[in-house]
Amino acid sequence: MTQAGLARPDISRRIVLGIGGGIAAYKVCEVLRRLSEAGHRVRVVPTEAALKFVGAPTWEALSGSPVRHDVFADVSEVPHVRLGQTADLVVVAPATADLLARAAHGRADDLLCATLLTARCPVMLVPAMHTEMWEHPATQYNVAMLRSRGTIVAQPASGRLTGADSGAGRLPEPGEIVELATLLLHRGDALRTDLTGRHVVVSAGGTREPLDPVRYLGNRSSGRQGYALARVAAQRGAQVTLVAAHTADLTDPAGVDVVRVGTASQLREAMLKAAARADAVVMAAAVADFRPAVSHPGKIKKTGADPEPLPLIVNPDILVELVRSRLREQVVVGFAAETGDSDADVLAQARAKLARKGCDLLVVNAVGESRAFEVDDNTGWLLGADGSQAALPEGPKSLLASYVWDAIAARLTR
Ligand code: CTP
Repeated sequence: MTQAGLARPDISRRIVLGIGGGIAAYKVCEVLRRLSEAGHRVRVVPTEAALKFVGAPTWEALSGSPVRHDVFADVSEVPHVRLGQTADLVVVAPATADLLARAAHGRADDLLCATLLTARCPVMLVPAMHTEMWEHPATQYNVAMLRSRGTIVAQPASGRLTGADSGAGRLPEPGEIVELATLLLHRGDALRTDLTGRHVVVSAGGTREPLDPVRYLGNRSSGRQGYALARVAAQRGAQVTLVAAHTADLTDPAGVDVVRVGTASQLREAMLKAAARADAVVMAAAVADFRPAVSHPGKIKKTGADPEPLPLIVNPDILVELVRSRLREQVVVGFAAETGDSDADVLAQARAKLARKGCDLLVVNAVGESRAFEVDDNTGWLLGADGSQAALPEGPKSLLASYVWDAIAARLTR
C-alpha cells in the first residue's frame, strides 16, 4: 500500500515548501519527509521567525538542498525570482497570521514572500494560529483577499492548540497536507471554493452488524474514499457532516463534523437526520446488506457440535430512502462497486443500479482482488441519471473526489 499518490516517479515535481514562524513548524518536518520520499524535489524556504522554531540544518538534511530565508543570499542565482518561477507547487505551512497578511498585501520583504509573488503554479497556504487570531476580521479579510486572487488557503483543523486551549486554527495533520498537495500536483484547480455556503453530507466506511458482543458481520471498506470526499468538500468551502462507520485508522478531515456510527441502522438514522438540511448527500459507505436476525447479548459459546445456520434479515436500503425523502434540489450520489458477470459488464450493471436506486449520480468502481478496497488510488466512471457517462482518471482518491464534487457543484447551480 502507498501513501496517497506517493512513490510514483511520473509525478516527481518541484515543490517550494514555505515555513512560517509558528510552533507547528515542527510538524512540517514530516510533510517534507513524505514529499521527499515520494520523489519530489523540495526546496524549503522558511521565514526568519520559522528558524527560531526549527533550524536550517533540519530542513537541509531532510530536503537535501540549501536553505535560505533572505533575498541577499546566493544573489547570483536570483533565487527570489527563480524559485517561484520554476516551482510546480508552493505549499506554505504553517501560514501564520503575519504571513497571511504579508502575502495578502503582496509584500516582498523576504525570500518566501518574494517567491509567492513570482510563482505561477498553484499556491496553497495552510494556516495555523490561535482561534482568536484566525477568527479576527483582519485575518479573515486577508484570507478572503488571497482566495479572490486564486491562492488556496486551506481550512485549518479544530482541536488542541499550543497550551491547554483548543479551537479552530490547528495545523491539519501532515498526512492531510501531503494529500492536498498531491491532489494539487495532479490537478491544480481541484480546490476552488465553489461549495462555499453549501452543506453536504458524506457517509464512509463499512458497517458492522453484531452477532454477539465480540463478533460481527463486516466488510473490507477502509473509508478512505468517503474521507477524501469529505476532506475535498471542506477545502472547497462546504460545511461537511461525515457519517463514519468502521474505517481504517484515518485522521478526521480538517474542518469536518464527524458523526460515528456502527451498524447499518445507526448509519441510516444519522444520514436521514443530517440529510434533512443538506444540499448534497453522498453515500460512499459500504452498508451491510444483511444483519443477523438476533444479536446475542452474551458471547456465543462452542459446544463441540456444528452451529445452527445463522438466520439473516435484510437491512434497509439507505440510499433509496434518502432519494425518496430528499428535499427539492438536493443532489443524491451513490457508489457502486461491481465485478461484472457473464450477463452484464460493470457499466451495464451500474446503469441498472442507478435506475434502481433513483439517485442523480453513481460513482462506479470495478472491484476485484486489490482493486478499490483498502488502497489509496481509485478509478472508475461517473454515471448521471440524465444519461451522462464520464471516465474518472486514475489517481488518488482525493482526485476522484474532486471530479465527483465538480459534477455535484454543476447540478447545484441548476
Ligand atoms: N447502499 C445503501 N444501503 C444498503 C446497501 C447499499 O444505502 N443497504 C448504498 C451504498 O452506500 C452505495 C449504493 O447503495 O452508495 C450501492 O451499494 P452496493 O452495495 O453496490 O449495492 P447493493 O444495493 O447492495 O446491490 P448489490 O450488492 O446487490 O450489488
